[in-house]
Amino acid sequence: MKKGLFVTFEGMEGSGKTTAIQAVAAFLTEQGHRVCITREPGGTPIGQEIRNWLLNPDSVLQDVRSELLLFAADRLEHIAGVIRPALSRGEVVLCDRFTDSTLAYQVGGRGLDSDLVAYGIGLAGLVPDLTFLMDVSPEEGLRRAGKRGALDRFEKEDMTFHHRVRDAYLAIAKRESRVHVVDTERLGPVDCVERVLGVVDSFLSAS
Ligand SMILES: Nc1ncnc2c1ncn2[C@@H]1O[C@H](COP(=O)(O)OP(=O)(O)O)[C@@H](O)[C@H]1O
Ligand SMILES: [Mg+2]
Repeated sequence: MKKGLFVTFEGMEGSGKTTAIQAVAAFLTEQGHRVCITREPGGTPIGQEIRNWLLNPDSVLQDVRSELLLFAADRLEHIAGVIRPALSRGEVVLCDRFTDSTLAYQVGGRGLDSDLVAYGIGLAGLVPDLTFLMDVSPEEGLRRAGKRGALDRFEKEDMTFHHRVRDAYLAIAKRESRVHVVDTERLGPVDCVERVLGVVDSFLSAS
């Protein structure tokens, strides 16, 4: 069997990514898997600096392409420093956001040229084995995220931005068989985790 399993969780803030990752990690650890929980941006020391800057509502960029390249630099360091080493140790890597976020936010949200973004994503050279799109309406996602406190630089965008991000995510799920949509508006946290574990289980028994 190939080493490790790379699983990503996608969706807007408040969609339930962190909640699902924590519960899935606890269950898989119980089953005897070694699990690595990580996130983008911010999975490495330099990545944490990039994250603070990118999410700070006061940060200003003159050229929106810089955002793409900052996310790409965060990702390259993250893959080399955290994800690949964990996979080569045979761990199940549960990653909070990855390349689909770049497509959804930079192309869908910001309207950047899709070839340019595809280049940025291609730099990663790593495709998840499985992806869970934690889907929620922007209204409900922002309501949940707003309960946590001040909104970050992306959360503060207008509703049309968040609707474009959601539509872009759903379009990815339609064309990529690795992506499984979890309706976190209809399903509570326990049912969401059950759905994720069901897919992970069938993937592991088929590989
Ligand atoms: N499936 C769900 N149904 C309802 N509420 C949820 C669900 N999953 C998470 N939540 C709640 O929504 C809020 C945001 O969840 P969180 O996991 O932090 O989202 P994210 O990491 O995607 O921003 C939390 O208060 C959490 O308890
Ligand atoms: Mg989270």
